[in-house]
Amino acid sequence: NSIARFPVIKVKGVPLMSHIAYNWDSIWAFRPDPSDLLIATYPKAGTTWTQEIIDLLLHNGDAEACKRAPTPVRSPFLEIYSPPPIPSGLELLSKMDPPRLIKTHLPFQLVPPAFWENKCKTIYVARNAKDNLVSYYYFDCMNQTQPEPGPWEGYIHKFMRGELSWGSWYEHVKGYWLEREKRNILYLFYEDMKENPRREVERIMKYLDLSVSEDVINHIVELTSFKIMKENPMTNYSCVPSPVFNHSISPFMRKGEVGDWKNHFTPEQSKMFDDDYATQMKDVNIPFRTLI
Ligand code: PPS
Repeated sequence: NSIARFPVIKVKGVPLMSHIAYNWDSIWAFRPDPSDLLIATYPKAGTTWTQEIIDLLLHNGDAEACKRAPTPVRSPFLEIYSPPPIPSGLELLSKMDPPRLIKTHLPFQLVPPAFWENKCKTIYVARNAKDNLVSYYYFDCMNQTQPEPGPWEGYIHKFMRGELSWGSWYEHVKGYWLEREKRNILYLFYEDMKENPRREVERIMKYLDLSVSEDVINHIVELTSFKIMKENPMTNYSCVPSPVFNHSISPFMRKGEVGDWKNHFTPEQSKMFDDDYATQMKDVNIPFRTLI
């Protein structure tokens, strides 16, 4: 029952878990169908939430249809090798018919180029850096295959230096931001989804050229609330049991809030982070909410 945490190995300068690096040629060669949809995020930015919204939109709000399988089976994670019982992303995808809803955490420059050749619709979700960091810290504590998080203070520095798996948050959010017009990427913010989920569900619906009734939209907003998704065994990752996900260290659906970083950063850590943030983000103006 023992489980090993994967070390990171750099692929084109980006630290990725070793199993991704070893399998890189097959990932890079992946050819999606033009009808496939891509959900791209830095880890812990709101992926699962967006996957559920889209699956429900594709099924006209049919809750039972969206309970046919757990999130990572309905919407495979392109680059991941999942310890059993979930098969790896490429294996799952090879057995599914398009249109498929594909999840990735790869930064823009590492997305297999066939996604852009085939003009696949792509939804990117960004979350403010401090909450994203806190969420990732808890996840690295509970997911026994992720690299060892180490102590909190050191984790902040690893995040700022871009050393966590999937690399720099700063480069990730900027990479997709700078390509969003050219590649027709829908760029969403977790904070906007929290503020007005209905508005963001409608934006996704329009981007995907779908049309569902007002009632169905309301139903989808309800079904994708944090409270309901936390209780839903098909969305709360109870499908990945211990020892891989140790839910007693932290549940996958942990808090689902904006501003939880205030419960974790000391004033000194926050100041240090903000100073560094200003430097790392000075070349772009991405409208993250000010969280100081
Ligand atoms: S992963 O592992 O990268 O796919 O994780 P991801 O789904 O991107 O992020 C997990 C965080 O998103 C929160 N979450 C939600 N927040 C609000 N509403 C809904 N419906 C929702 N579903 C998931 C989840 O709780 C994690 O954030 P934290 O801050 O840790 O609670």
